[in-house]
Amino acid sequence: MAEKKKVDIPDALDEQYYQINQDILESFSKYRPPLDLFQFKEDVARIVLFCRGGERLTNEMVETLAQMVDEGLIFVSRADHPIYVKHISYQLDLVLVDKNLHETEIADIFTQALTRRLTEVFDQPVPMVLARVWTDFMVLTEYLYHDIHRIRALTRRLHATHSLENHSFNTGIMGLAIHAKTRAAQYEAGDIKRKFFDHLTAGLFLHDLGMSKVPNFIREKGKGLTPDERGKLQRHTQIGYEMLAKLDLKFPEVEECVTDHHERLTGTGYPQKKIALGEVGRLCALADSYCAMTTKRVYAEAMEPMKAAGILVQDAGYDAEMSRNLQAMLVQTGKHK
Ligand SMILES: [Fe+2]
Ligand SMILES: [Fe+2]
Repeated sequence: MAEKKKVDIPDALDEQYYQINQDILESFSKYRPPLDLFQFKEDVARIVLFCRGGERLTNEMVETLAQMVDEGLIFVSRADHPIYVKHISYQLDLVLVDKNLHETEIADIFTQALTRRLTEVFDQPVPMVLARVWTDFMVLTEYLYHDIHRIRALTRRLHATHSLENHSFNTGIMGLAIHAKTRAAQYEAGDIKRKFFDHLTAGLFLHDLGMSKVPNFIREKGKGLTPDERGKLQRHTQIGYEMLAKLDLKFPEVEECVTDHHERLTGTGYPQKKIALGEVGRLCALADSYCAMTTKRVYAEAMEPMKAAGILVQDAGYDAEMSRNLQAMLVQTGKHK
């Protein structure tokens, strides 16, 4: 069957508006779309307002709207980006069907959605809440697996200040970016297994799951912890490991991230002072430290990205190849000033 003819949209228009499809329309409240909708009038080749955001539509308008969406005549304004980002972030799988979103818009949507989901998991680490973040992780892996270079736009959206959810998001993104660079040839050749990629992603984002059980005042204290408080803090890797079992997340990559991200190749880490670390553990350790160093805390300013990477390259506790790749990546993305 021949594909239905869609209207030709002038380029200038495309910069200001984007076309919405049936999936997107169906995600809106049927009688009250959340944002202004515009209609392309073919006869005059102009965009005109169809309805205001929040306005109640009549049955007739709902019908007309559905038909016009089908014909490719309905648009939203890119100026409404913040409303649209928020809307899609609640139904993240829509990013995969909306072909009109720019890479930077998609990166904003992922950042909002994943950070919010991580907050929910840390507040309430139970299977039902975890299932929701897992669904969103799978949307992210579906998006990245087909073109791993898309991770770059996400590395430009790291959170600048520390919180458990911000740190977890940042570590997930940086971990994937370092992995993409270190294993570039395998990604290129399609040799990275999908299941591995899914579980690596989940592990990086959830590496500090056990922290949700550590009292906030200990987490935020920074320097000057008593030995007892330090013990409680350091137990988060073991606690996280036990939580994975209860949550039915017994995947090797997820476990390795949770248990090994504070281990160092010099045997100076915790909890086991392991020297032999797997690739996933080494990756998570590096991403975790880098993200901790480069965000602002209550008790410390953020370190410059290149300075942090420089320190990590010099530190034999970290994987030398991975930390050099991190440094090279920062130079490429212009974060070396
Ligand atoms: Fe940790
Ligand atoms: Fe961490």
